Amino acid sequence: MKDYKNVHILDHPLIRHKLAIIRDKKTNTKQFREIVGELATLMAYESFKDVPTQEIEVETPLEVTKQTVVKENSIAIVPILRAGLGMVDGILTLFPAAKVGHIGLYRDEETLEPQEYYCKLPTGIENKVVMVVDPMLATGGSACDAIKMLKKRGCKKIKLMSIIAAPVGVEKVAEEYPDVEIYVSTLDRCLNENGYILPGLGDAGDRIFGTK
Ligand code: PRP
Ligand code: URA
Repeated sequence: MKDYKNVHILDHPLIRHKLAIIRDKKTNTKQFREIVGELATLMAYESFKDVPTQEIEVETPLEVTKQTVVKENSIAIVPILRAGLGMVDGILTLFPAAKVGHIGLYRDEETLEPQEYYCKLPTGIENKVVMVVDPMLATGGSACDAIKMLKKRGCKKIKLMSIIAAPVGVEKVAEEYPDVEIYVSTLDRCLNENGYILPGLGDAGDRIFGTK
């Protein structure tokens, strides 16, 4: 894959360890869901390095000091339903005041084209840093559609976080949206004929919600 400036692979031994667990088909729904959340927390720590901040005054027991905190009302998390929901709480652990919007998309099983069925976004989202989350970035169709919807709403600063990505999906998003920072924890080999990531982890939504 080409070297894209806006693509960040968040490699870390702890992330690799957790990835190995969720890839395992023997991992049950409870553990799968917990680890997807933990991976989202670890990835958020790194991918929000440039989070907007503001200065405040804090009085220690000894004196008043200027300190830096995360800027109020500066972040929105937008999971792509369903599987993206599994990453939200893990990010809210670090950014409890973040607003949460929802975009509902599912892939048509024949064409693999994303179909939109829901969109509810926080007011003022256009002035926030928006983190789109979805554990799987396969063809990139769903992520591109979600980004298109957010841009239509006036969002200027958009990031995308996916746990597992296929090179073809990363390329699609990186080329269509060079202004969107893309964070993934691993680049897998390829897609199979049904659009599933190999080696991947199967269907993320089904594994998070135990629907199959
Ligand atoms: C999965 C996944 C992404 C999408 C990725 O969702 O969670 O949203 O597929 O594929 P793409 O990059 O080729 O668009 P799915 O459509 O299975 O819906 P679900 O989350 O409701 O299971
Ligand atoms: N969606 C998933 O849940 N898994 C894949 O491998 C591809 C798309």
